[in-house]
Amino acid sequence: MKLIHTPAEWNPLWLNHLQLNQRIGLVPTMGALHQGHVDLVENSRSKTDITVVSIFVNPTQFNNPEDFKKYPVTLDSDLEKLEKAGVDYVFLPSVDTMYPNLPSLKMDFGDLERVLEGKFRPGHFNGVGIVVSKLFHLIRPHVAFFGQKDLQQVGIIKRLVSDLSFPLQLTVVPTRREADGLAMSSRNLRLNSSERSQALILFKSLEKAKAELLSGKKWLEIVREIENDFAGVPSARLEYLQLIHPESFEHYVDFSPKEKSSICVAAYIGDIRLIDNLPIIP
Ligand code: PAJ
Repeated sequence: MKLIHTPAEWNPLWLNHLQLNQRIGLVPTMGALHQGHVDLVENSRSKTDITVVSIFVNPTQFNNPEDFKKYPVTLDSDLEKLEKAGVDYVFLPSVDTMYPNLPSLKMDFGDLERVLEGKFRPGHFNGVGIVVSKLFHLIRPHVAFFGQKDLQQVGIIKRLVSDLSFPLQLTVVPTRREADGLAMSSRNLRLNSSERSQALILFKSLEKAKAELLSGKKWLEIVREIENDFAGVPSARLEYLQLIHPESFEHYVDFSPKEKSSICVAAYIGDIRLIDNLPIIP
């Protein structure tokens, strides 16, 4: 496994792989890697010849400066995991490499980002759209891999690729969970043990909401119940629980078994903000 820090190091390697007719997979990450990230790597290894993982904690996508400051950094163990997973290259750019200038360009994904994460984290998808575009330009992968854990991010990136005609394919990988159901997330590292058990309320709520929807209960009644459940967990504060179309992200007021639908949740556990989602009709 080779570490690269600049496009100048990557460019001749890229050309060489291209001349050998090898397909390149890119897994963009912000580090603090867990098995969910490793799933993306394994997917890339099975679908491409060369896997590049980028690790870059992108300052421009953090709407909350505290969240950026406290974002976990675990580079040594990240590199160990990637080496074990058979990654070919790790791209570790500096902030100056990624942002020689602060971009004056702003990306606005319209209706796709007026809801859910976009609504509660203003500017977040502008930062994601710009950094992912930069990574696509710098690494020039044939295939890029993203997790369903960040469902709206997937929608935004599909749109980015289509609107800007990036010549690559996207692959979406299912959410990896801990044994008890908590979605793996780098931010879970910040939970203390009491918060860790309280964090399970996100997944429990999704499962409960799904079961109740499928048994015919009204969505609004389910939301009220889950708001009540949250009120009984001292460190938890529900930000949103919505039933949405998993591509347009429009929200439904009630469930129809004929329409594609997913439930999305965001909540604070202490001061750590977590998100999760569950497909109902994929
Ligand atoms: P990060 O949160 O590090 O996630 C990197 C990739 O791993 C994303 O595609 C994310 O959806 C996926 N992922 C995270 N948790 C997962 C889980 N439990 N199961 C499966 N996949 C999971 O998402 C970002 O970084 C950034 O926004 C980035 C795209 C790198 C741009 O900066």
